[in-house]
Formats: sequence, structure tokens, C-alpha cells
Amino acid sequence: MRASRNSSRLLHIETFGCQMNERDSEIMAQLMAAEGYLTTAAPEEADLIVVNTCSIRGKAEQKAMSLLGRYRKLKKKNPRLVVAVAGCVAQQEGVALLERMGHLDLVVGPQEIYQLPELVAAVRNGAGQHCATGQSPAFVIPPFLPELGNGPAHKRFVTIMQGCNNFCTYCVVPYTRGREISREPGDILAEVDHLARLGVREVTLLGQNVNSYGQDRPGLPSFAELLHEVAAIPGIERLRFTTSHPKDLSEELMQCFASIDALCPHFHLPVQSGSDAVLKRMNRKYTRAEYLDKVARLRAIRPDIAITTDIIVGFPGESEADFAATMELLEIVRYHGAFSFKYSDRPHAASAQFGDKVPEAIKGERLSRLQARQEEITFARKQELVGTVTEVMIEGGSKNGDQWSGRTAANVIVNFTAVETFTPGQLVMVQLDEACQNSFRGTIIQHEEQPA
Ligand code: 5AD
Ligand code: SF4
Repeated sequence: MRASRNSSRLLHIETFGCQMNERDSEIMAQLMAAEGYLTTAAPEEADLIVVNTCSIRGKAEQKAMSLLGRYRKLKKKNPRLVVAVAGCVAQQEGVALLERMGHLDLVVGPQEIYQLPELVAAVRNGAGQHCATGQSPAFVIPPFLPELGNGPAHKRFVTIMQGCNNFCTYCVVPYTRGREISREPGDILAEVDHLARLGVREVTLLGQNVNSYGQDRPGLPSFAELLHEVAAIPGIERLRFTTSHPKDLSEELMQCFASIDALCPHFHLPVQSGSDAVLKRMNRKYTRAEYLDKVARLRAIRPDIAITTDIIVGFPGESEADFAATMELLEIVRYHGAFSFKYSDRPHAASAQFGDKVPEAIKGERLSRLQARQEEITFARKQELVGTVTEVMIEGGSKNGDQWSGRTAANVIVNFTAVETFTPGQLVMVQLDEACQNSFRGTIIQHEEQPA
């Protein structure tokens, strides 16, 4: 770690998009902390602003762009302010961003975030605007040992791979995040071990396509082997991962849900559509039947597994019959939860060139129908659990003391009343009394001794 130099400098970070971006923002904050930067929630008092952007859907990109526009005023007031754009929009737009917005100093792609301290120093030394969007298949994710940042101290994200090789026709990610690169297993294990020693009890392994971990270079463990090794690290009570592609969901990985105690019984398995014709045009490389077989197999191995998904409605050429097939899939799988989106054209994505675009109004109407039905199913799934007793990891308590909240292994929030004091990360047994749309209310049954 570098020695602290400018102890009074302040950094403000705004993060859009997925957990990969959240983790990247933490890494940038940690790198800048080593340079003496403290984080601030107030952009107007910052010396450095980083906007970590997402370009997965049109809306996410627009939000980031309008926020960047607002920082023009701050830069006018304080010419010493450095404004950096990171993440997927930075990679996608590159130098064009600097041309369009003269108040921006830095454009930093996902592979370049580790250079942030040097890039900021160069701007401070008068180097002018700079675009760092290098992307190489030979990139090595640095062996980064994190300090605990501002996130909750009991659970953390750990990036295990970057990029994506799948080229789903709607998706910008292979262009913004590049090809799949697995991180060295020794670095991953060292990072998790370090976190566990600092008191972290839950780890989520991150990648665009985590279940193809290890396939990009000979000699790496499979994803299932990696899970076993991470779970064996003392102190890790809960292990999660996201996101997975159904085509790479192996029997070996499914078996982990029977053999690894710490692995939470939750699988986020994006289906995108229930229609074979649409799946084919999306280049998803599985059929509806193959997907359903994997869901059935997962449930045979781990009957209490919660399965959640992502769905796109209104993909080019999606007919009412295609959409009906997706609605029917909801009834068959009965997902514990689903994120659903209206299709939007993305730069570079093949489907942007497809004809037969679905009108906005129809996309909107289909999305409301799907979300309304899924909300009912999500709620019914919760009601099925009312009366059961389950293990909850404490997240925190309310200020006045007796209201506590935690998460089930399936990652659902549980609120309960208790006069005792708990620490975040502590495991307690709670009876689920009432299902709400996004949480449960429960009664505490018992709890373990507080960790020393
Ligand atoms: N339009 C709408 N939704 C998209 N997603 C990815 N690309 C698009 C797009 N062009 C959704 C997918 C993916 C999730 C992260 O975002 O459902 O799984
Ligand atoms: Fe957004 Fe995807 Fe990039 Fe994450 S990887 S920031 S979700 S575009």
C-alpha cells in the first residue's frame, strides 16, 4: 500500500449497474484511499468525482450521461475538481465522451481502473484530458488484497472473472468488458482468506458468466472446484455467486448444492425468453426444454433452492405467441423472483440491426402483464414459507434498538423484533410469520454466541 499523501482530499463515486461495477467502485475507492482520499457522499465538496457507468440498457446509459452533465457546474466553480467516467459507457464511447463533454478529465475502461491513481495524478500535473480504454485478452486481474471499505463489513463481493464470450445478440457486454479472463485461483483464495480474517462471513463470487470460470486457460480449476476451495476457508458461512449462463450449468456445479454446506440455496439463472424461436435469435444456445431440464435437475438435487431469473420482453420479432410462451414458463418454473426489462437496442449488439422491432407501447404492455403475474408468484412463493424456521444472517438494526433485519439463505430480507443486541453477520434462527411483497416479518427463535 502507498503511504498517505494528501489526507484532506475527498472522493465522490456514483455507481450504476451490476455488482461487478459495485465491486469496481470499491476497488477504485480503496486505491484512492491509499493516496489519501476519503470518500464523501456530497459531490459539491469532492476533489475527485468518479461516475462508474452501465450501458446494459438504454435507460442506465441515459441516467449516467445526465448525471455527468450536471457536474459541469461543479467543475466551473472548482477548476481543481477532477471528473472521471468509468465502467461500460466509458469503454463503449471512449474519447467521444471527452469531445462531447469538455468538463470531463478522464475516461477509464473496466480493465484500466487499477491505473486510476496514476491517471488522476497526471491530470493534476496538467496532462489534460485522457482516455484509458485499453482492452487485452492477456490482461491479468491484479492480485488485490482489499481493506474493508464503506460496505457492510460482514459480506463482500469478490471478482473471479471478467468479460463474456457468449455474444447474445442483444448484449453490449462482450464489447464493453471484452473476452472472458479468469482470475488466478490463488489470488481469489488469498482475497477471500484475507476478508474472512477481517470478519467477513458471506462472500459473493462475481463474473459476467461465472460458471464458465477456468475455461479460458489450461490448468485452472473448474468453477465447481473453485467453489469447494472457497467454501473451505474458515469463517466463510455463506457463499453465493452471480451471474450464470444456463448453457454452462454443469452437473458438477449442480452437485455443489448438495455437497457444500456454505453454498446458499439460491440460483440466479437468466432465461431471457420462454420461446425457442426468440432464444435462437438471441443466440442463447439452449432451448426452453433444456433450460427446464436444468431447473428440474437443480430442484431434484436441492429441493429448497430458490431460482430467480432475468427476462427481456419485446425482443425484435417477438410475437404474441412468443410472449405467451414466456408467460407460460413463469407458471412452470414459478420463480422466486425475476428482473424483467423492455428490450432496447444497444451499440454493437447484433439485434440492433434486426428488423421487426416491437413497438414501445406493446413492449410496455407486455412488461406490465409479466411483472404483475410474477409479483403474484413471488408473493405466493413467500407465503409457502410462512410458519417455517430458517437461518437469517443479521444485516443491522434500527436506531431505536429493538427492530432487526437480516437475510435468509435465499437472500430475502426478514424483519423481526428483539431486545437483544446482534452484530452484522451473526446467524440467528427466525420463524417466518408473515410474507410481505419484498420481505418477511418473523420471530426470533434462537441465536448463536456473538463472534469474538
Ligand atoms: N435490452 C433489454 N434488456 C437487456 N439485458 C441485457 N441486454 C439488454 C437489452 N439490450 C438484460 C438481460 C440481462 C440483464 C442484466 O439485462 O435480461 O440478463
Ligand atoms: Fe452494466 Fe453489464 Fe457493464 Fe455491468 S457489465 S456495468 S450490467 S453493462
